[in-house]
Amino acid sequence: MSDQKSSLANIILSRRTIHNFKNDSVPDKKIILDAIGQACWAPNHHLTEPWHFYLLEKETITSICELNREMLISTKGTEAAEKKYQRWMSIPGWLVVTCQISEDEIRYQEDYAACCCAIQNLMLLLWEQGIGTKWSTGPVVRDDQFYDLVWVNKEIEHVVGIVWYGYPAEIPQTVRKSVNQITTELP
Ligand SMILES: Cc1cc2nc3c(=O)[nH]c(=O)nc-3n(C[C@H](O)[C@H](O)[C@H](O)COP(=O)(O)O)c2cc1C
Repeated sequence: MSDQKSSLANIILSRRTIHNFKNDSVPDKKIILDAIGQACWAPNHHLTEPWHFYLLEKETITSICELNREMLISTKGTEAAEKKYQRWMSIPGWLVVTCQISEDEIRYQEDYAACCCAIQNLMLLLWEQGIGTKWSTGPVVRDDQFYDLVWVNKEIEHVVGIVWYGYPAEIPQTVRKSVNQITTELP
């Protein structure tokens, strides 16, 4: 068998969470919207299409960065909070992804799973075009004020994460366990 990897495998294997973006260029919004449209062809039990994507602009981004700074002042101190504020303000692209809440626990689990599939699709589609992403779920996304800033009703939608995007300034390395370590063959 050939050891050559498919282009899909290469994209999956080379995608990394990007922590440092080039802050002088923001990817074209059309690329992002096209990728969102394609990402939503993720598997989705009962075809509930539970996801929603919020594309943030400067005003909302600044408010979120300010909120995060405020939250960090009490836990990490003023200097660290300001540093994080500056860092977040330099991130070029911001998306917030939500999942529709369901009273049925199984349905919610399946909807959340579908949203995660869509986010991975989105990250791979962007990576294919040289755009890096970071899926972030820090404490700020659970704060009521965050929901207000992105105009999301906490009773109706749950924030699955912020997806930051942009052209990578550096690509980190990481590792995974071997297939043997994570696989059990049963009779
Ligand atoms: C649901 C979810 C939440 C994540 N939240 C964070 C986060 O808050 N901060 C962070 O640095 N990375 C976050 N990540 C990214 C992971 O840390 C990252 O995927 C992991 O380190 C493996 O690196 P890789 O994506 O480059 O393979 C999150 C990933 C997932 C799937």
